Amino acid sequence: MNKDIRKQYNNFHDLYTENFADDEVSNSLFHKTIDFNLEKKKILDVGCGDGKDLVILSKKTKKIFGIDPSIEFLKKAQINNPSGIFKEAVGEKIPFQNESFDVVVSKWAIQTSTNVPKVLSEMARVLKKGGSLVFLTKHPILQFLQKIRDYGHGVDYYKQQITTSKIYSGTITIKEPSHTIGEYFNAEFLKNFEIIDYKEGTDFPASTQINGDTYPTFFIVKAKKK
Ligand SMILES: C[S@@+](CC[C@H](N)C(=O)[O-])C[C@H]1O[C@@H](n2cnc3c(N)ncnc32)[C@H](O)[C@@H]1O
Repeated sequence: MNKDIRKQYNNFHDLYTENFADDEVSNSLFHKTIDFNLEKKKILDVGCGDGKDLVILSKKTKKIFGIDPSIEFLKKAQINNPSGIFKEAVGEKIPFQNESFDVVVSKWAIQTSTNVPKVLSEMARVLKKGGSLVFLTKHPILQFLQKIRDYGHGVDYYKQQITTSKIYSGTITIKEPSHTIGEYFNAEFLKNFEIIDYKEGTDFPASTQINGDTYPTFFIVKAKKK
């Protein structure tokens, strides 16, 4: 199933790229959270997609790297960032040596993994001591509501199940595994990182609004590698 989850991005990369600007709230909060000095810093984007976030970050540093399992997205990322270094890879197995980056960022990507703790552990491994991590991911509250919508009442928050997201006014359907808050903030994460900032927000129509309710659709963490 994990392979299918990864492959789906090759199918809608064009539509996704066209709609990037619709993620107005989450995009702007994500970039506002990367508020530290990036000059000459080596930065890795995990699940970089078409590399648009790296285009923004490359105004502050030229040492940009991205990984993504979708070859179609990677082609776009390379075109958008001709001097960037891109590799086809997943967050669970980052193809770089220990302590090779000053900054690791990731937006709307970690939740695609069936093994969030492994991705966060890999991010810690490749970060230098004192390095910064900023990630934005799908909020487990949203995924829980999606589970109820997809499977009906009686669902189990703790059980990983595939959830369906309809984004950009239903033009793209994404299937992703559900997660708990505890998968992000487990003991290993707290051992590896000091949390500097935590924000949650709502971004419709980047996510479907279920039953007209308002709830957080994403959260952002800024953390420092201990
Ligand atoms: C919703 S897109 C976000 C792309 C980009 N970060 C952005 O904000 O526009 C999710 C991305 O995660 C990638 N992805 C899927 N599975 C992954 C995994 N296990 N590790 C890292 N990235 C993954 C997809 O190929 C896709 O490019």
